[in-house]
Amino acid sequence: MNLIDLARKRKTVRKFKDSVVPPLEDILYSIEVAKEAPSGMNAQPWLFYVVKSSKLKEKIRNECEKAEKIFYEKSRGRLKDWLDAHEFSWKKDFLTQAPYLILVFSNKKFPFSRESVWLSIGYLLLALEEKGLATVPYTPPNFREIELILDVPVEYKLEVILPVGYSDDPKSKYERKKLEEIVIFCEEEK
Ligand SMILES: Cc1cc2nc3c(=O)[nH]c(=O)nc-3n(C[C@H](O)[C@H](O)[C@H](O)COP(=O)(O)O)c2cc1C
Repeated sequence: MNLIDLARKRKTVRKFKDSVVPPLEDILYSIEVAKEAPSGMNAQPWLFYVVKSSKLKEKIRNECEKAEKIFYEKSRGRLKDWLDAHEFSWKKDFLTQAPYLILVFSNKKFPFSRESVWLSIGYLLLALEEKGLATVPYTPPNFREIELILDVPVEYKLEVILPVGYSDDPKSKYERKKLEEIVIFCEEEK
């Protein structure tokens, strides 16, 4: 499939078939693709934790939901309206429903590490799509607690949790802006 077709097809999925486990090779393939991303100073400041254990997924979910409850109680304004309109709640079933969680970390010691790691996450999302796998880039409110559960080296910061599996989510993809809305051609002089 062309890159444009993959990019157009990819959408965020929050419900997974919990009984069908993707091949580990497909998970590793996606990380192989992610590590080809460019990075500041070629530092490759990324680290990928792959979690399959139900116990560990449960632990991560409990910790995230504790913080999500507080986050939802506090949220106001545009964010709250968006969350309500999309029927989101503090419950994060996808953290235990998805057969795999990929947690992506950035090494704080390198300049531009977050930018670099998010580039690699973009690569990863398209690679998962190529393999027919779905995910949601989930950014929990309490990164530190998750780092502690996994005993991650102190120089690494959690950027995202990607629950990965086969989609069981009929939602359609949200619309994108038109090209002419987001591209500005600059003349030499105004
Ligand atoms: C940086 C970033 C953070 C996100 N955090 C969350 C999140 O915490 N929870 C969630 O359900 N979706 C999260 N998303 C998914 C977005 O809501 C989703 O990509 C967006 O609504 C567009 O939908 P689409 O991916 O289906 O086109 C995040 C996406 C990005 C890029």
